Amino acid sequence: MKEQPVVDCHFEDRVAYVVIQRPQALNALNSEVLARLEHVLDELQEKAPRCVVFQGAGERAFVAGADIAEMEKMDPVEARSFARRGQILLQRIEEFPAAVIAAVRGYALGGGLELALACDLIVASDDAQLGQPEIQLGIIPGFGGTQRLVRRVGPGMARYLVFSGARISATEALRVGLVDRVVPAAELSSAVNALARELASKPWFALQQAKAALRTAWHTDLVSGCEREADAFALAFAHPDRREGMQAFLQKRPPKFS
Ligand code: CAA
Repeated sequence: MKEQPVVDCHFEDRVAYVVIQRPQALNALNSEVLARLEHVLDELQEKAPRCVVFQGAGERAFVAGADIAEMEKMDPVEARSFARRGQILLQRIEEFPAAVIAAVRGYALGGGLELALACDLIVASDDAQLGQPEIQLGIIPGFGGTQRLVRRVGPGMARYLVFSGARISATEALRVGLVDRVVPAAELSSAVNALARELASKPWFALQQAKAALRTAWHTDLVSGCEREADAFALAFAHPDRREGMQAFLQKRPPKFS
């Protein structure tokens, strides 16, 4: 029987679904998964889907973290390059020029939550549990968690999650802004598919410009950020979708974007 790859990538219309498939280890991220994700990102860069969805195989976990059995053997030098590898991969996901959604079912812990944090939007099932439990292993988040968590939930909640290692429910995660939407577990796929299709139907160039401008807010002052926004606004005006969108509005018809 053919062994299934640790990461599957399939396309439905203009949406790419990336599924991490190590359910026996709650989809933990080992070197093989990271290598396969790097390869999948190369493929996505070429195929240019309009929306990407990350999910975990099975019902128990999105991803339960980096693989502890593999990390247990690492020395500090190896640990640093493992962290940099994960960080670079997640940065590529964060900068991917299309909307990226994390569909979180079950556990999103450690590197799993860090993967979700690199996505634009996190939709969680009501049975999801999220956290940064690294402290229990005597380590800290290494795939960008200390940085993205602060930006998403603010310094107080980030400190609480990283210092305590606590797992929080989907409802609590929604309350603190760690996830963007919570749906009943049985409806996660349909809700994510509908959102992905909706985002894929938007004018792609404008969405890319919006994504890049929003990212600027993370690492610049307001004045420079607004300048960057004006550049992106002007670039959108140079694209045919702008003419189509505005003419469609004025002619009272649905737009047909490129
Ligand atoms: N790495 C390797 N294997 C893992 C794993 C991980 N992160 N998480 C779960 N597994 C494996 C378990 O070892 C177990 O394998 P066996 O059946 O071969 O024993 C299998 O998945 C099922 O797990 P459990 O039996 O433990 O299931 P449970 O329901 O009792 O508990 C859990 C579920 C609470 C998620 C628990 O598995 C757990 O605490 N996992 C570790 C979570 C964690 O600490 N993640 C952070 C990792 S460090 C990190 O991610 C660093 C970074 O920032 C990059």
